[in-house]
Amino acid sequence: MKSLRSERLLLRPARPEDLAPLLAILSDPAVARWWPGFDESKVESELIAPDPDVTVYVIEHEHSVIGAIQFGEELDPQYRHASIDLFLSPQAWGRGFAPEAIRTLAVYLFEERGHHRLVIDPAADNARAIRAYEKVGFRPVGTMRQYERGADGTWHDGVLLDLLADEFVPPPVERPGCSTSPE
Ligand SMILES: CC(C)(COP(=O)(O)OP(=O)(O)OC[C@H]1O[C@@H](n2cnc3c(N)ncnc32)[C@H](O)[C@@H]1OP(=O)(O)O)[C@@H](O)C(=O)NCCC(=O)NCCS
Repeated sequence: MKSLRSERLLLRPARPEDLAPLLAILSDPAVARWWPGFDESKVESELIAPDPDVTVYVIEHEHSVIGAIQFGEELDPQYRHASIDLFLSPQAWGRGFAPEAIRTLAVYLFEERGHHRLVIDPAADNARAIRAYEKVGFRPVGTMRQYERGADGTWHDGVLLDLLADEFVPPPVERPGCSTSPE
């Protein structure tokens, strides 16, 4: 598994020493509301050494761990697609890091894993997440009623959003000596 880079972020494989910073982020109530129930053993089993059907990248900004992003793949040729999920430390919110991390992973999933469709399924009332995904180009497909059990133990609606390869606008490629801005 190779690391992925963007202008401000490094997406790299998780290491054992990431357990403490990831647990600290997931223990913040603002994050735990959407990614509930993480203790040391769940961080270990789901993020540091996840099942082989999930691929997890730790997200670093300026050499600090600020969150994680993961994908899973449906490999049945009839339904082939990938699904994405992520969380960031609240200190890193509102700076466009989520769209940047998702675009970076999307380039990999479209160009190197050959997917034509990506999906993401936030809680229906996670307006910040839905906004971040729409900035990447994800479009709402519809509401999935009583889709997931929330941190409060009750069933909550989810929204399915999808993004097709031929409507995705990839980030500009930085090349030494080349400017992407207009003259
Ligand atoms: C969801 C998450 C990854 C977004 O990360 P982020 O880096 O803050 O995303 P952005 O910088 O694009 O900012 C979010 C956008 O939502 C907007 N926003 C914030 N609160 C909002 C609200 N209540 N309603 C609508 N839009 C809102 C912000 O203004 C910003 O849009 P803008 O750039 O057009 O102003 C991050 O908030 C997070 O980790 N949350 C906790 C875990 C989580 O919810 N994960 C997603 C599970 S599906």
